[in-house]
Amino acid sequence: MTAVIISFVLFLALLPFFRLLRTARRSSKKLPPGSLGLPFIGQSFGLLRAMRANTGERWLARRVSKYGPISKLSLFGSRAVLLTGPAANKFIFFSEALVPQQPKSITGIIGRRNILELVGDDHRRVRGALAHFLKPEVLKQYVAMIDREVRHHLETNWVGRRSVTVMPLMKTLTFDIICSLVIGLEKGSLREALEEAFTDMLPGMWAVPLNLPFTKFRRSLRASRRARKVLAGVIEKKKAMLKQGRCSRDEDLITYMLSLGGEDDAREMTEEEILDNLMLVMFAGYDTSAALITFMIRHLADDPVNRAIVIHEQQEIAKGKASGEALTWSDLNKMKHTWCAAMEILRMIPPIFGNFRRALKDIEYEGYLIPKGWLVFWASSITQMDEHIFEDPNKFDPTRFEKQSSVPPCSFVAFGGGPRMCPGNEFARMETLVMMHYVATRFNWSLCCEENGFSRDPMPSPSQGLPVELELKD
Ligand code: HEM
Repeated sequence: MTAVIISFVLFLALLPFFRLLRTARRSSKKLPPGSLGLPFIGQSFGLLRAMRANTGERWLARRVSKYGPISKLSLFGSRAVLLTGPAANKFIFFSEALVPQQPKSITGIIGRRNILELVGDDHRRVRGALAHFLKPEVLKQYVAMIDREVRHHLETNWVGRRSVTVMPLMKTLTFDIICSLVIGLEKGSLREALEEAFTDMLPGMWAVPLNLPFTKFRRSLRASRRARKVLAGVIEKKKAMLKQGRCSRDEDLITYMLSLGGEDDAREMTEEEILDNLMLVMFAGYDTSAALITFMIRHLADDPVNRAIVIHEQQEIAKGKASGEALTWSDLNKMKHTWCAAMEILRMIPPIFGNFRRALKDIEYEGYLIPKGWLVFWASSITQMDEHIFEDPNKFDPTRFEKQSSVPPCSFVAFGGGPRMCPGNEFARMETLVMMHYVATRFNWSLCCEENGFSRDPMPSPSQGLPVELELKD
């Protein structure tokens, strides 16, 4: 006992010395170059303004040419280090000293128990549940359902019109698909209320988290409360149905998450976790795919060579189908050129601009100190538009993806990488290919406006939502 007390007293006495040692060790390593800007605000407004003007990529490139591939900055109320390049991407995706951390704005809106905030066993457990629904073996059985949603969407919103505005329609389509497949919520007023809440929620995701009147963040928080109310109601209903044996555990993602915790499962999910992760899947899963499909339609309208390749591939598949027959998983696997074109869109206009990790301890990277608690910011455009990796990066060239092995590891990061890589990539591939099949085989389309720029908020969105003129094929 005396020995324990003596050791404890000694430890207390030496504590300041250990602290001094740590400070001395830290000060021997240098922080990356760059400025932290104004307290709290830092460079947030500069980056957000650039993204809105569609110059976010240039804003980053300017930083890289001024300070090099590693620089410090301050974003959304936190000090951060921007790391760029394939080696940095690999470090970020695989390092155990880094954990995902969303800007405070996202955590406030989505909830603190969403998968992006979870680590270790908690992350594995929740990822396991999400991945269960998003793996190809399970998704295969939903191709016909997505086919039905897409055809219904086109009949209702495209056929018989001389023009449509693509982006809002794609958001509705991908939202409808995710509602049916992931939360089992059918068309109707609840689904509409949920979509409206999600639309209102997005603008504050990457905003300075000031909960003050008239701020974007406050508006998003309000919308988040509306969305959570609807989802909480759906969860309650599913819980009752499960109890009465009126639905099965594999009905949808909600019933699956509610059923976790049986004998073979590690641990059940709390209601907060179920709600926060539904919010996250909905948020992660509909706007991203909507952006991909919209920008594909936008690009192919102005690129007759690649449009012809995609149309030819889709017509060949259509020839093998009876009228009204749904696409199958094996049809999707034949759509190689179409998917290469989609990958090229993801390279040039990635829906996710970048993301954040937090340093769990002081880290030394390439001779620089990343202090414990700081954010690490990765952005896909710097590597995806690097001419040393992708020759002539501004040229739209889907053939670069024909041989996956020719793309160096951690250079194409539109879906992230490592243990946190997007589990929804197959889902996104499915909805994109099904939609492109019917657009390419049923319509001729051309852009209505000459001005076809886009802005980010934080998702890319074409100016005026991309109005296109339509002509139904015979
Ligand atoms: C074109 C469409 C999509 C793109 C470009 C995309 C992109 C990404 C990226 C870059 C990440 C990694 C973020 C990071 O590591 O910091 C991610 C994670 C994630 N995505 Fe996607 N995504 C897409 C579609 C989807 C869909 C359809 C779903 C669900 C149905 C989904 C669900 C998720 C989830 C749950 C995570 C978090 C994974 C984890 O932390 O373990 N995504 N996505």
